[in-house]
Amino acid sequence: MAINSQTKNSKKSMNVAIIMDGNGRWAISNSLNISKGHKKGVEIVRKIVEESVRQNISSLTLYAFSSENWSRPKAEIEAIKKLVIDAINNQVPELIEQKVKLRFFGHVNKFGKKIVSKIEEAENATYTDEGSLNLNVALGYGGRQDFLDITKDIATRVLSNEIKIDDIDENTISQLSSVPVNDIDLLIRTGGDRRISNFLLYQIAYSEIVFIDKYWPDFTKEDFIECIDNFKKVSRRFGKRI
Ligand code: IPE
Ligand code: IPE
Ligand code: MG
Repeated sequence: MAINSQTKNSKKSMNVAIIMDGNGRWAISNSLNISKGHKKGVEIVRKIVEESVRQNISSLTLYAFSSENWSRPKAEIEAIKKLVIDAINNQVPELIEQKVKLRFFGHVNKFGKKIVSKIEEAENATYTDEGSLNLNVALGYGGRQDFLDITKDIATRVLSNEIKIDDIDENTISQLSSVPVNDIDLLIRTGGDRRISNFLLYQIAYSEIVFIDKYWPDFTKEDFIECIDNFKKVSRRFGKRI
């Protein structure tokens, strides 16, 4: 089968994902413009990435913009686009220094040529075979859209006799997904809501899920460490009797 069979999960375990929610409400509660909430949110990302490297986490997967977020006001979307470019310009040198490998996934083409080429530049600049942390950013991503893309991809490969129906297994789905990591160990959502909002539907099958009542701009390094420490105490049974 021509699908890349290289595993997406590094042997050094612990794949963390975060739904960084609450930027808008944080801005409103501080009498600021919504875009200032997103700007503050990017500053928090920098701190959490640094801590992830210190904690020896293998991957950090962040929800930056969902497929559904396209229905937000144009001005807010424009502010987010500008922040993505600013964040890449400002943070890539530090990422290189920390050996952090940056990857974007989702329908990034919808953001336009300027962002697409910035992303390519950043991914190439941070590429390394011996990285410390895989930093994956979901941009224009939706879990259901990913399923749809995978389904079409499988159908195309079956029709062209590249793969046989009997050969399709869970690994096929993982490998064809746009998500750069297979199994999320710990999923954190800030902002107080207890929902998934179309994030990594397939990859969170056995995740430990933590909901934090704070808005993302108020999330601290200490909160993050607490989440990780609590995760390490959890007995993960994966359906077995142990
Ligand atoms: C999350 O914060 C960031 C994005 C969705 C881009 P929100 O902007 O959703 O913040 P709230 O939920 O409105 O407070
Ligand atoms: C989830 O937050 C998406 C991101 C954090 C990028 P939303 O604010 O879009 O989710 P809902 O609308 O509250 O479900
Ligand atoms: Mg929100």
